[in-house]
Amino acid sequence: MTSAASRARPGLALLKPAVFSASLLPLGWLVWRIAANDLGPDPAQELAIATGEWTLRFLLITLSLTPLRQLSGRPEFVRVRRMVGLFTLFYAAIHFFVWMSLLLAFRWFAIGEELVERPFISMGFASLLILIALGITSPRAMVRRMGKNWKRLHRLIYPAAIFGVIHLAWILRTDLGEAVLYGSILALLLGYRLWRRFTRSA
Ligand code: HEM
Repeated sequence: MTSAASRARPGLALLKPAVFSASLLPLGWLVWRIAANDLGPDPAQELAIATGEWTLRFLLITLSLTPLRQLSGRPEFVRVRRMVGLFTLFYAAIHFFVWMSLLLAFRWFAIGEELVERPFISMGFASLLILIALGITSPRAMVRRMGKNWKRLHRLIYPAAIFGVIHLAWILRTDLGEAVLYGSILALLLGYRLWRRFTRSA
């Protein structure tokens, strides 16, 4: 069924399918590289890195949609926020699965040990758990049922992103360029949010 808004602006009807298809492109690209045997000398690690990077990118894109709506006045940005957020969880789940299957061969004891004993893994896990909680509570019925608590819970998306950036910095250790880039984008988004809060309550 088409909504009144999408009848008034036909482009809107295409927005969600377009964003959905675009969000599948990184997965398509990875599948293509697997099929072409183009993942370099350590395919498992390359897959872990690529899926981790896409998780963080989708997380930052999700966080940027509200500021983009506010700055541009275009509601389209928030219309796709839930979908983009769920794609973050989708890539995080693939990332986690790659780690459990290809890097640790489903050795459950080793998986449990790494989750608690390796700080960079624990950090990624904390981020993943938040993403799962946000994904489970994303349906409209949950938004209605949870009321104000829904907003409170969904603010955890910021810690999820912070944990993701720390996880990345921990992995990179010395060559921190990429972590600084993602961290700066996150700092900008957090700064914007705090600034809006401060100026609106002043
Ligand atoms: C339990 C959950 C997680 C586990 C076990 C995990 C594990 C890993 C592993 C093993 C790698 C490859 C490290 C290497 O280069 O050897 C990796 C890379 C990465 N992970 Fe995760 N991760 C988890 C969750 C997350 C989440 C939720 C995010 C994003 C919010 C994330 C972002 C990244 C990024 C950006 C990289 C790429 C690092 C690079 O460029 O070298 N991870 N992760």
